[in-house]
Amino acid sequence: MRILVIGRGGREHAIIWALKRSEKVKQVYCAPGNAGTALLAENVAIGEFEFDQLVQFALDNAIDLVVVGPDDPLAAGIVDAFEAANIPVYGPRKNAAEIEGSKIFMKNLLKKYGIPTARYETFSDYETALAYLRGQPLPIVIKADGLAAGKGVTVCFTREQAEQALADAMVNKSFGAAGDKVVIEEYLEGQEMSILAFVDGETVRPMSPAQDHKPVFDGDKGPNTGGMGTYSPLPHIPQSIVDDAIENIIKPTARAMVAEGRPFRGVLFAGLMITKDGPKTIEFNARFGDPEAQVVLPRLKTDLVDIILASLNGRLNEIDIAWSDEAAVCVILASEGYPGSYAKGLPIEGLDRAGDALVFHAGTAVKDGRIVTNGGRVLGVVGLGGDIAAARDKAYEAANRIAFEGKMNRTDIAAKALV
Ligand code: AMP
Ligand code: GLY
Repeated sequence: MRILVIGRGGREHAIIWALKRSEKVKQVYCAPGNAGTALLAENVAIGEFEFDQLVQFALDNAIDLVVVGPDDPLAAGIVDAFEAANIPVYGPRKNAAEIEGSKIFMKNLLKKYGIPTARYETFSDYETALAYLRGQPLPIVIKADGLAAGKGVTVCFTREQAEQALADAMVNKSFGAAGDKVVIEEYLEGQEMSILAFVDGETVRPMSPAQDHKPVFDGDKGPNTGGMGTYSPLPHIPQSIVDDAIENIIKPTARAMVAEGRPFRGVLFAGLMITKDGPKTIEFNARFGDPEAQVVLPRLKTDLVDIILASLNGRLNEIDIAWSDEAAVCVILASEGYPGSYAKGLPIEGLDRAGDALVFHAGTAVKDGRIVTNGGRVLGVVGLGGDIAAARDKAYEAANRIAFEGKMNRTDIAAKALV
């Protein structure tokens, strides 16, 4: 098969790595890719939003399957564009990707179908939102409605912080049009867990759970990022809680999307808080997580191509999905300054000294024949081992051998799972 993967991050590098383990795969292209995807696939210099050019490339190169990584082209209808040209494509259509593209759509869907989530109100007018906010207890959570690269959510512990976050979204337009509307929601206390699932209509095949670390600094300090590190599985979380989330959140959501005439096909990703009243939904994403994909896919024993093809043929219910007993830990190496502004083009040393750790590239590029930094999150270093401790040691050992100016990483990824 000839496969085209859309995207340029660590997630897409991990997807390509998993696809290439399949004997069915002959050639993979990645548009636009990064320096890491170029090691496994042929990079194609077409951006994620150039739908006409991407479709033309797929037609010209006899592509058998397109796999879409990131959220924003999905929300913009990239799947509909490939389907219109009769090209097999894996991912949700625009009307189903809205579960991630609009937090208001998602919250209203969950409310309508009685699916557990935080209490909330939505606003399109700043003054009304401010008046409501002033009557709410702290902490409180303010969310831009639209996509904001994982940064549109502020958990506020003081009044000043809350009013600032609201003004940033609605008045200062820090997230552009994504902040025209906001959700103000109840703060949920507990441990977070991500459950990703392969979904086709009402059929749900859950993946092994993972945990992300969103804030930029150790101890969950500092602003939220796209994710600074992940691990899977979660040995300290009982299976009964995972099952509760699958039965009471993910499956009912898949059924709700069918009932709404927006059947979901692709990877549905539930961000959950395990509260004292059980798991509740924080968010839904319409794609693999980044860096959740980097720890979940290396543990997938079933052929990823078989899972995707079964979904496209309406046969996902016939597939059993097997996971390796190994644990995986991913440590993100980021550029100093991220999630704010940061330098680019700095040479990366030590990529050949990672041993048997996996190194998935995110913001990297090739300049004058050298691999250089090209983004906020630069690399995801993944250790695999018999348990979380072993996987973690391996990830950090390799991460410490890689160097670039301004390299920054959290030192407490997966620490919660060790106690
Ligand atoms: P999101 O971008 O929606 O995943 O939110 C980013 C992060 O904000 C989440 O991973 C949580 O850590 C935190 N968060 C979002 N909503 C809530 C909530 N209702 N209560 C507590 N924390 C939240
Ligand atoms: N790591 C969180 C996300 O991909 O949204």
